[in-house]
Amino acid sequence: MEKTILDIICDTPIVVGTATKHREDPLYSDTRRSNFNMYTHEWSLKWKHVSPKPSQVHINKDAQAIIDAINNDNKKFKGHCILWHNDLPDWFHALGVQEKQTAMLNHVKSMMQMFKGKVYKWDVVNEAIADSTNDLRPMWKEVGGIDFIDKVFRVAHEVDPECTLVYNDYACTKINNKSNAIFNMLKTLKERGCPIHEVGLQTHEDGACMRHMWMESMKQNIARFYSIGLTSTISELDIRCHTFAGSLDEKLEKQADVYYRFFKAALSDLRACNEITLWNFTGKYTWVYDFFKVEPMYCPLPWDNDIKPTASYQAIKRALQEVVDGLMG
Ligand code: XIL
Repeated sequence: MEKTILDIICDTPIVVGTATKHREDPLYSDTRRSNFNMYTHEWSLKWKHVSPKPSQVHINKDAQAIIDAINNDNKKFKGHCILWHNDLPDWFHALGVQEKQTAMLNHVKSMMQMFKGKVYKWDVVNEAIADSTNDLRPMWKEVGGIDFIDKVFRVAHEVDPECTLVYNDYACTKINNKSNAIFNMLKTLKERGCPIHEVGLQTHEDGACMRHMWMESMKQNIARFYSIGLTSTISELDIRCHTFAGSLDEKLEKQADVYYRFFKAALSDLRACNEITLWNFTGKYTWVYDFFKVEPMYCPLPWDNDIKPTASYQAIKRALQEVVDGLMG
């Protein structure tokens, strides 16, 4: 039998996870089980979905099915995500500032409490920095800016001191104005003694960005976060290939090369980054076609729209095998 991702990484510190939705689809669940050692909810633990009514946490069918799969398949459980300016419950928008602060802190407490000891890592604050301004988004400014973010992490840590607490954002995997803004904010928080442990670099990328310099810049970015006491995780990886030159086959070959180099670069210092999560793993259930208006022939993930492995799957395994061989040697 051909080795899976999981066969390669088992007994190593490497985590390769996937975001997932619940589907009655045995090929989907079998492929997930035999390749990944961590699952995270793609949408169903977000605030809007768990709190249709104020001060309530209600785990819906999709969310519960994924929790069951995590337990049955014996996987690590990453929580995604507690506070985000998108997918807020409808009732939240009508609140005044103080009520919003209270609701947000209560939500942090309830989620941390509900999953205490089960979730090893939580995306506590998601996408607080706007790319248009490289400053905090209005929702965060309204409730008190960085002081409030500090408070949020402290409250989360108090409830579950064992849990790794993550700040997660997009368009910040390499060094640029946005990752500079995030770096400065997280550095300030660390200096204040805030219990924040990791930065999540989402990495919903266009293949055209994946030049050698891009990868080098990612390594430098991961290294600078590590220098202020934060590990990094590649938290939502998918690579759109429609902008590559050439025929469809050529685009997919180039995408495979990018996946190979990306895995090698991101995992080049496992103390600083030992975890990569795909944002779902098959074209069959990816958010990319809808959100980025990409034609479904350009699959951004290592399994195609029929859940068959692509060249990118082989490339990822080759990269992981080389990283693991490097650990042994
Ligand atoms: C996306 C999911 O993939 C979709 O299924 C959902 O409808 C909307 O959210 N940044 C994040 C993720 O942190 O939660 C988003 O996931 C993608 C962008």
